[in-house]
Amino acid sequence: MQAAGLGVKEYRYLDTKTLGLDFNGLIEDLKVLWRLGRPPVARSPASGQNAPPRSVILLHVCAHNPTGVDPSPEQWHKIAEVMREQNHFPLFDSAYQGYASGDLDRDAYSVRLFVEKGFELFATQSYAKNLGLYGERIGALNVRRTTFSRALSSHTSTLR
Ligand SMILES: Cc1ncc(COP(=O)(O)O)c(C=O)c1O
Repeated sequence: MQAAGLGVKEYRYLDTKTLGLDFNGLIEDLKVLWRLGRPPVARSPASGQNAPPRSVILLHVCAHNPTGVDPSPEQWHKIAEVMREQNHFPLFDSAYQGYASGDLDRDAYSVRLFVEKGFELFATQSYAKNLGLYGERIGALNVRRTTFSRALSSHTSTLR
């Protein structure tokens, strides 16, 4: 992403003390990403609020690499809520569907939740591990869009 000229910031994820998810840190970082390097856009005189930051957030669908730690369903709900509030755009990375729980459907929970909630999103899928196609470079980019929105068009051109 950096090579493509995008500004990349990290959010907290692993709590090294508990070896579990640093959920509060993750949520806090999703809320203040702009403070980490993206200045807010001009204030809207109507609302007095800063315009939403609209960052693209890379999320692992399941079996997070390299930690192996995934949010619980309740935590995914909260992540989605904050992403909505902040108008972030989800970019899901799925490389181990089936490996976290042993069930392909259960492992798709996160990305399906965002789809149910009406998000537009990108979901990248690698079939290297779960379909035994390592070295074949087989995968897919799935684009979920709801309307021909300007938001998605601008993110698409940024990622292109
Ligand atoms: C989370 C994640 N996404 C993507 C990939 C890359 O997948 P591919 O080998 O199909 O390029 C990996 C590979 O280890 C991965 O762990």
